[in-house]
Amino acid sequence: MKPTKSDGRRFIVTCFFFILFLCLLVSINKAQFDSLLIFGRCALSKIPSQPYNSSSNDFLTPNSSSNDIRILLGILTLPDQYDRRHHLRLIYGTQSPVGAKIDVKFVFCNLTKEDQKVLVSLEIMRYDDIIILNCTENMNKGKTYAYFSSLPDMVNSSNGSYPPYHYVLKADDDTYFRLETLIESLRPLPKEDLYYGFVIPCTSMDPFVHYMAGMGYLVSWDIVEWIRDSDIPKNHLEGPEDKVFGDWLRKGHRGKNRFNAKWSMYDYPEPRSVCTHELWPDTVLVHRLKNREKWIHTLKYFNITQNLKPSKFYHIP
Ligand SMILES: *[C@@H]1O[C@H](CO)[C@@H](O)[C@H](O)[C@H]1NC(C)=O
Ligand SMILES: *[C@@H]1O[C@H](CO)[C@@H](O)[C@H](O)[C@H]1NC(C)=O
Ligand SMILES: *[C@@H]1O[C@H](CO)[C@@H](O)[C@H](O)[C@H]1NC(C)=O
Ligand SMILES: *[C@@H]1O[C@H](CO)[C@@H](O)[C@H](O)[C@H]1NC(C)=O
Ligand SMILES: *[C@@H]1O[C@H](CO)[C@@H](O)[C@H](O)[C@H]1NC(C)=O
Ligand SMILES: *[C@@H]1O[C@H](CO)[C@@H](O)[C@H](O)[C@H]1NC(C)=O
Ligand SMILES: *[C@@H]1O[C@H](CO)[C@@H](O)[C@H](O)[C@H]1NC(C)=O
Repeated sequence: MKPTKSDGRRFIVTCFFFILFLCLLVSINKAQFDSLLIFGRCALSKIPSQPYNSSSNDFLTPNSSSNDIRILLGILTLPDQYDRRHHLRLIYGTQSPVGAKIDVKFVFCNLTKEDQKVLVSLEIMRYDDIIILNCTENMNKGKTYAYFSSLPDMVNSSNGSYPPYHYVLKADDDTYFRLETLIESLRPLPKEDLYYGFVIPCTSMDPFVHYMAGMGYLVSWDIVEWIRDSDIPKNHLEGPEDKVFGDWLRKGHRGKNRFNAKWSMYDYPEPRSVCTHELWPDTVLVHRLKNREKWIHTLKYFNITQNLKPSKFYHIP
């Protein structure tokens, strides 16, 4: 069949529309591509526009964000308690609560022996988790004051975030904290003027009645700064450290927000007293873990080794 004039015209028209269609397709794709670019730029620009200047520290912990609750857990102990520190490093090194950054530090006063200078220095080189305060070792003559009042200058703004910690804890070295539960209990609470712990006397549930037990209490950063700045703590250092701490806050009208964490905090069930409680799942802290047997019983109860990975290298019955 011989192609006619009209066939040729039809061919040209078809071609024209086909080319038009191709152009349209390309331009749609380009539009999509552009919008992807814009989206990408938005996503990237979110980073510098955060109110928190990221520092090298953030890259080490990729999942930490400026929304994390930052806590300093200071465990007051003695330089010679090497085994205790080893044990507590295991306990806290294997807990990684989501949405929080918790720095665990061991706190003591001036070193006094030659061997300490070598061994504690080595520990610092290896773990960097020790605070040595300018004081002579004591329990009820101002060590707690030295701890809280030294902190603002020790940790101030070197990382850009303020406050450096939302909360500061003081704990005993025979205390076991369950960090995940601690964080959950803190989430709904105010971030300022907060005084949190186990109310003394043991039989009371009223957080305003007296003070929080030394097993482990927590305050918000504004109270830490107040302790550094106020004359009230400075002039009242002697006495049971937890009671003295409560006295400062009462005299200074601080800690208007109080939270009694009883009975998620308690003394180990044995020997039985009004301050003890059976181990139970809703636990933030167990205190008076005075020997290995009590520690092991507690750690087993909370299934702390359940995430141990199977391996050809070991077999644990
Ligand atoms: C973040 O860093 C920039 C410059 O490095 C500075 O101008 C800005 O004030 C910082 N912002 C905060 C919240 O620290
Ligand atoms: C970061 O988060 C992801 C998922 O949320 C998780 O798989 C990963 O293990 C986390 N990394 C660290 C270092 O925590
Ligand atoms: C440590 O405390 C002593 C007295 O308690 C004081 O004389 C000394 O200046 C303090 N040292 C530092 C480095 O603050
Ligand atoms: C603690 O040690 C430092 C130097 O190592 C010394 O300047 C300070 O006076 C000591 N403080 C006390 C209270 O002994
Ligand atoms: C941090 O503490 C040092 C020493 O007290 C002080 O000179 C400095 O101004 C403080 N920086 C901030 C940001 O508070
Ligand atoms: C701040 O940085 C120091 C080291 O520069 C680190 O030890 C500390 O844990 C950081 N604190 C916070 C709250 O990120
Ligand atoms: C520990 O694990 C056992 C067995 O899986 C479970 O029954 C128990 O509730 C767990 N205990 C806690 C405190 O989670």
